Amino acid sequence: MRPSSFLGTLLLLLFPATLAFKASDFKTCSESGFCRRGRALAARAQESGTSWNSPYSVEPSSLSLAPHQAAFTADVKSSIYPSVKFSLDVRIHEDGGVRVRMDEVDGLRKRYDQAAQWALLEEPSIHRDIRWTVGKANAKAVYGPKKDTEVVVNFNPLKVTLFQGGKEQIVLNGRGLLHMEHFRAKEVSQPEEHIEAEGQTVLQVNPAVWFEGDSQDAWWEETFSSWTDSKPKGPESLSLDITFPNHAHVYGIPQHATDLSLPSTSGPDARYTDPFRLYNADVFEYLADSPVSLYGSIPLMHAHSPQSTVAVFNALASETWIDIAHTEKKGVETQWISESGILDVFLLPGPTPEDVFAQYARLTGAAPLPAHWALAYHQCRWNYVSSDDIRGVQKRFDEEDFPVDVFWLDIEYAEDHKYFMWNKKTFPDPVEMTKDVEAIERKMVVIVDPHLKRANDYPVYKRASDLGILVKPKSGEGEYEGWCWPGSSSWIDFFHPGSWDFWTSLFKTKSIDEQWSWTESTDNVGIWNDMNEPSVFNGPEITMPKDNVHYDGWEHRDVHNINGMLFANHTYQASAARTDPPRRPFVLTRAFYAGSQRFGAMWTGDNLGTWEHMAVGIKMVLANGLGGMPFAGSDVGGFFGNPEPEMLVRWYVVGAFSPFFRAHAHIDTKRREPYLLDEPYKSIVRDILRLRYSMLPVWYTAFRETSATGMPILRPQYMMFPKDVAGFGIDDQYYIGSSGLLVKPVTEKGAKEISIYLAEDQVYYDYFTHHAYRGSSKGRSITVPADLHEIPLLVRGGSIVPTRERPRRSSPLMKHDPFTLRVALDTTGNARGELYLDDGETYAHARGDMVWRGLVAETQGKGKGRAVRIASVDLAAGGTGVGLYDPRNEFARSVGEVRVEKVVVVGLGTKPVSVILESGRELEWEYTPGVGSGKEGQPGMLVVKDPAVGVAEDWSIVVKL
Ligand code: NOJ
Repeated sequence: MRPSSFLGTLLLLLFPATLAFKASDFKTCSESGFCRRGRALAARAQESGTSWNSPYSVEPSSLSLAPHQAAFTADVKSSIYPSVKFSLDVRIHEDGGVRVRMDEVDGLRKRYDQAAQWALLEEPSIHRDIRWTVGKANAKAVYGPKKDTEVVVNFNPLKVTLFQGGKEQIVLNGRGLLHMEHFRAKEVSQPEEHIEAEGQTVLQVNPAVWFEGDSQDAWWEETFSSWTDSKPKGPESLSLDITFPNHAHVYGIPQHATDLSLPSTSGPDARYTDPFRLYNADVFEYLADSPVSLYGSIPLMHAHSPQSTVAVFNALASETWIDIAHTEKKGVETQWISESGILDVFLLPGPTPEDVFAQYARLTGAAPLPAHWALAYHQCRWNYVSSDDIRGVQKRFDEEDFPVDVFWLDIEYAEDHKYFMWNKKTFPDPVEMTKDVEAIERKMVVIVDPHLKRANDYPVYKRASDLGILVKPKSGEGEYEGWCWPGSSSWIDFFHPGSWDFWTSLFKTKSIDEQWSWTESTDNVGIWNDMNEPSVFNGPEITMPKDNVHYDGWEHRDVHNINGMLFANHTYQASAARTDPPRRPFVLTRAFYAGSQRFGAMWTGDNLGTWEHMAVGIKMVLANGLGGMPFAGSDVGGFFGNPEPEMLVRWYVVGAFSPFFRAHAHIDTKRREPYLLDEPYKSIVRDILRLRYSMLPVWYTAFRETSATGMPILRPQYMMFPKDVAGFGIDDQYYIGSSGLLVKPVTEKGAKEISIYLAEDQVYYDYFTHHAYRGSSKGRSITVPADLHEIPLLVRGGSIVPTRERPRRSSPLMKHDPFTLRVALDTTGNARGELYLDDGETYAHARGDMVWRGLVAETQGKGKGRAVRIASVDLAAGGTGVGLYDPRNEFARSVGEVRVEKVVVVGLGTKPVSVILESGRELEWEYTPGVGSGKEGQPGMLVVKDPAVGVAEDWSIVVKL
């Protein structure tokens, strides 16, 4: 993060903390009061062994069942503070998910209870046909299609268990670590406390000491480095143990630079000494293997075993630490320690990975279908320094025949880092420049950060200030002032409803009501939301003080992890509102929370140009997919450093096989646009870019599926083979959507070959050479060539992969290009695939303007005279939920001339007798017999030349054998 201007240099002198990663910039658990308290509670419980009992219990007499609904409420008390009241609310949703909420009742203050509100798509409906059975010791509900899902709420101590098939799946408070620190008055001190007894106030030894400890550790104030957190509300943290007794692997809780299968942070095999932390932070030069929090937080954890997959979504917005222990006999034990908020936990019963994704998507929404161009290649750097620079770079891409769709502008376009305001010395003609880029339907993405320069001649700041919508300091009066790129800055409070229309108005490209708006922009420009953790150079842990005040009086500590999501959310809405009807906006965000997937893409922030960062970036993108946020990628090349050509080439492969594909570089790095490479690197990267473009139909089809199901785009091994234990820890190879493509990007210097794990007795073909490999039902690792020009990319037998093979300069130029179909026959001679197309930029698809084809290859008959029938059928007609669908819809008609120009059938062991269209026409074809037999070799291959069938039509080709 090194700004080029004088001010920037001054900033770096003033705040050297931003110069290099210093562990000391960020708290460890032992430096965070409530985390210390949470861990100490766990330690006391462990020391006490079996005599440890949770003090929380349900008052059975208070239990109240909701009429006609699977919901109840009850009072909860804690034996250590008998006068403090809590309420419990347990409900079963229509899809079988369970929500458990607990809050303090009539406390001194109100706990923050709106995290779920921001994350959820809508309030889930409660099941109407499930009934609770209430007994003396518990309340139970049995449900599910096989009636084998059961939720049991034990009253004393309070414990909630989700069972499936009689086995415990998720247990809340099984270890007795639940603790909701109630609000208390500062004057009352431990170990003595005033207690109401028989109408009199008496002073007693506080019975809470065994449970809470006697130190009042950091209750009322906390100092870290030179900052003091005033903690006006005192202690209010929340600890909860969540155990998965029958699972050995847990995944999720992005964002951390670590393995996909999360390692232990406590217990004898702990890999890290600290818990995983969720506290959105701008961590400079972050480590490639660490539990420290990064830019985003999704408190969703999946647990997986060969028998079932389940998940918990713990809807908390405050700083949260999560300890994980893999135990021999008790499954995976976790403890979640949060600084503030109510208990609001969603249990997702699965039982398959697909079910869990669907259940989470029903809660927080699936990622919408992005604009098609957003899946193409993005070229960024900090900074393209002028309009002419942008034009020059675009020209070089064209001269060198590299496809690219998007050029990005980082913060230096903005005069004095006042976002929206062009630096007219360097960008004298922003609209013309943008239109030059848009000439062949390319796009620009421009950065808009959340900090506003405090200058009265900056209309954005001025109006926000006049409207009173800026975040306030701890006094609750005036405007919080901190330092960021522009120097002295303030931040819009996006929790303030008054900020929403204002933000929308800024993005209008035509001025309305004489208010300032971004007329020097176009309706197509995408927006990059960076620094929205928020990053504050002179703040504690490079962010805002926790005692800052937001709308409605909530402290920043209560909402920190949601803050960045609201910024991206309103940018997304504002971008959509530029046109009527709206077009699909593109917003890239660095900070995120549960639900952020609804508002665009994310990237993994400031990675380093090292092999370790390249490798961990893949795991992070996979983890984000599990967290419901599939549109993700990492900076190609690494943000910091000057990657050697070999590394850059490999990084382009990682990018080309990520949902979001962008090259980016720090301001101090050497220029590294791909055309600057020497041969052979230059040509290799050109081929990689062309490969990505040829596969855009695969990516777009995968995004359609994600937008409907919540399934990740990149699918790790365990998801594809949920019963194959050997694959549960694999996170360096993955499948792309349902396409059958399996890729393992090389992330090691000097590699010549690489091993890929195949979990099934199925044939896999090299994508480029068609060489066949045979897996094994016991699991088998194969070795594939992986020289610099080779990409370890396999097609799973049984898949049909649609591509567009004509090199073009940008993706919109491919709109009318023909398709190639790669039919990779499985061991029984069958295959299937999908192809989804629409206009790629509007919402007309929601009205049925689309082409969605099912591609099928079936071997029919036996012995001589059998045939392989390859067909395209209409999937949309089969029910898309789109009532208005008409196969001759406007979009389908617009691609009426687009044809399939080639069908390659791989794995065909017999030379055909004839190849005809079912309608009768003979087709031209060529057959190459296979070489080798058994598990590996060159399979027989049929190429059907230009069958000239329409991509939007029903057709079938019969290959007679
Ligand atoms: C930090 C971002 O992570 C990086 O990508 C960007 O280039 C700099 N901020 C400057 O805007």
